[in-house]
Amino acid sequence: MSDYRELAERYGTPLYVYDLDRVRAARRSLFAALPVSFELFYAMKANPHPEVARVLRDGPGPSCRAEISSVGELSAGLEAGFVAGECLYTGPGKTDAELAEAIGRGIRVFSVESLTDMQHVGAVASRHGAVAECLIRVNSLSAGASTGIRMMGKPSQFGIDAETLPALMPELTSVPGTRAVGAHFYTMSNAANEASLLSEFEQAVRSAVRLADLGLPLEFLDIGGGFAAPYAVPGERAAYPTLRAGLERVLDQHLPGWRVGTPRLACESGRYLVAGCGALLCRVVNIKTSRDNTFVVLDGGINVMGGLSGIGRLLPVAVRLDDAESTQIANLVGPLCTPGDMLGRDVRVPKLAIGDVITVPNVGAYGVTASLVNFLGRPAPTEVLISGGAVVSVSRLESRRAYRPVEVAGV
Ligand SMILES: Cc1ncc(COP(=O)(O)O)c(C=O)c1O
Repeated sequence: MSDYRELAERYGTPLYVYDLDRVRAARRSLFAALPVSFELFYAMKANPHPEVARVLRDGPGPSCRAEISSVGELSAGLEAGFVAGECLYTGPGKTDAELAEAIGRGIRVFSVESLTDMQHVGAVASRHGAVAECLIRVNSLSAGASTGIRMMGKPSQFGIDAETLPALMPELTSVPGTRAVGAHFYTMSNAANEASLLSEFEQAVRSAVRLADLGLPLEFLDIGGGFAAPYAVPGERAAYPTLRAGLERVLDQHLPGWRVGTPRLACESGRYLVAGCGALLCRVVNIKTSRDNTFVVLDGGINVMGGLSGIGRLLPVAVRLDDAESTQIANLVGPLCTPGDMLGRDVRVPKLAIGDVITVPNVGAYGVTASLVNFLGRPAPTEVLISGGAVVSVSRLESRRAYRPVEVAGV
């Protein structure tokens, strides 16, 4: 990754830099790792910046579609040029208001997480004179792989428990305002290796076949994701040299019609596509020692990155060391008034002075979007996009309070 310190001087810190050429390269490698006819949904939650997402939609080569989970992501997706009718709308808590907006703006394909979720989708679709195509999200009884960030294979708000599906199938296939068109599996993120990924996909395919035997129309099968990439530490996204052949073998065995498009097949990815494009630059605003511990205080903390650390997933970060003549162990902290604003405890950093700029690599996914941007009222970080080595976009998220008229005084 290039040295972006000159951009930090020009645009200030904290600063995210996204290299769109790296997004293009990740998209090429993921499509190459999948059988040719696979569709690929880009999970907008990873990085909803419309111009980053646009690169995943635009050619050359096959285009991603968008997986969205809120009306905010829908707006970002449409701004990026995705076609509403081709998006997949997911999530366990779809409200009537957001369903009305989504259907009104042209969304037709939903992943449903329960019978009641599907009934809500159907009721709103009917009010709009539309029919919602629903993928039944399945919470399998067991996991194919034992590693990664597991979302399912255990009691969960996601998906319908596989063992209840035989009894539910008659109702799921007759909800007014909907048409059950297939199944959705998204069981884990960041699979540990290629074998785990394939075994999870094989389990999804086998489960889908069982559902088809129970009467689920299987026109469309989304086998999920789990494609891995490092977060906030150096490294390259995972390589999948045998996945394509492995998946073809599984599909030939269980769903031989796939080669002629029955069912349509899809995967999903967020981090693999965008994690590696992004770097975060922060400036050292203070350095202090407390009882023999060094604290390097940065101008950005969990308000600009790593807000998901509350659920123990993501931190600590690593800082680029490549041109450092000497290094030290320090606590990397942000500027917020909370001891929780710790990006890394006892991490190795270059010998730093106040005013220096540090770079955290591989934060193009779950960066700004997964951070506590409003906490303690600091400005959001500036986001710079580069393509072909040139800056092509500079922006910053802004939030402001929108007041509404007080309709009735009193409570
Ligand atoms: C339904 C769904 N699809 C896709 C993703 C993207 O995951 P990742 O960024 O690990 O590829 C997620 C992440 O939580 C998800 O819930």
